[in-house]
Amino acid sequence: MTALGGSLGSAFLAACSGSQGGTSGQQGTTDGASGIDYMALVNKTHALPEGWEDAVEIVTFTSSEDWDVDVEAKAYDAYLGLKEDLEADDVYVDLDSAYRSVAAQQEIVDEFTKKYGEEYVKQYVAVPGYSEHHTGLALDLFLIIDGKGVYYNEEMVKYPEIWEKVHAKLADHGFILRYLPGKKIETGYSYEPWHIRYLDDVDAARQIMDEGITLERYLDELDPMTADCEVDYGASKLYAEPDMDSALDAILAEFKNWDGCTLQRFAFAGDDACGADELEYVNGLREEGAEAFDQAIVFTTDFHSPSAEKSEGTAWEPDTDYKDWTWHLGRTGADGSWELLTWGY
Ligand code: DAL
Ligand code: ZN
Repeated sequence: MTALGGSLGSAFLAACSGSQGGTSGQQGTTDGASGIDYMALVNKTHALPEGWEDAVEIVTFTSSEDWDVDVEAKAYDAYLGLKEDLEADDVYVDLDSAYRSVAAQQEIVDEFTKKYGEEYVKQYVAVPGYSEHHTGLALDLFLIIDGKGVYYNEEMVKYPEIWEKVHAKLADHGFILRYLPGKKIETGYSYEPWHIRYLDDVDAARQIMDEGITLERYLDELDPMTADCEVDYGASKLYAEPDMDSALDAILAEFKNWDGCTLQRFAFAGDDACGADELEYVNGLREEGAEAFDQAIVFTTDFHSPSAEKSEGTAWEPDTDYKDWTWHLGRTGADGSWELLTWGY
């Protein structure tokens, strides 16, 4: 698997050149500032604000790998400061991708669906119109190690100590780490160490980074259904966090139909609960004739039912804590989608 940005150099060359307000081939700082809200939230439920494309000032520069990258003007200046600061510590980064038009995002969806499949795209690629990259304020970095560009996801994640150094300097330049580990329930995406977001507000960036919170929480824009949910991925030899994130999607797709219920805790049930017996159990629940699952996963959740008025006509006792509700899922192949088979006590 590649980083979302990492393998996209050629796609961006094709899709992003000539964006609005572009200053082709620009290198160095600018005095530019856009007439935009630098704190704007764009995520799975918040589309790019109307009029953004007319207000944003985009500059274009050529990366060390020779592809063009479009970036919002002030974010670009701040990035240059960050880069310089990192280089003083012998950490070398470059920009893979920043501003992306809706059309460019669609090209990525198509390309990545072909290359990596739908499940990967669901976890890592925003639906066109809902990508933070449309703002020009989201920057995908890549690492330069021993003079060589490292773009691929599976390669980049091998350098957590370098990312730690990068992340430690973000706030000083008005950036935050946007897709934190363990926060998919808030951001909608799995951990992306390379995706940073410019806020044009060093104090806000410092608070967000110091507290380790998401932009959604800082802006008080969390989904009330999951806003108070504690997530516990446990320690697993079977599954990594993105595997569990993709199961979380399947569970939330069902849970959101439970009008007014709020999720309080979402926890991996442990490797022992996902062994041969569980696999046999979920295979017994699959649709007739469907391909057999070769992996099973179990989660436990606590949730709270709504008030008497809102619980009317539902199976819930009103205003009650339900504990240790279990969810059973199966999938075929590590890149497959989890299918939710059953849930309950
Ligand atoms: N990778 C981020 C979520 C995007 O596609 O905008
Ligand atoms: Zn990104």
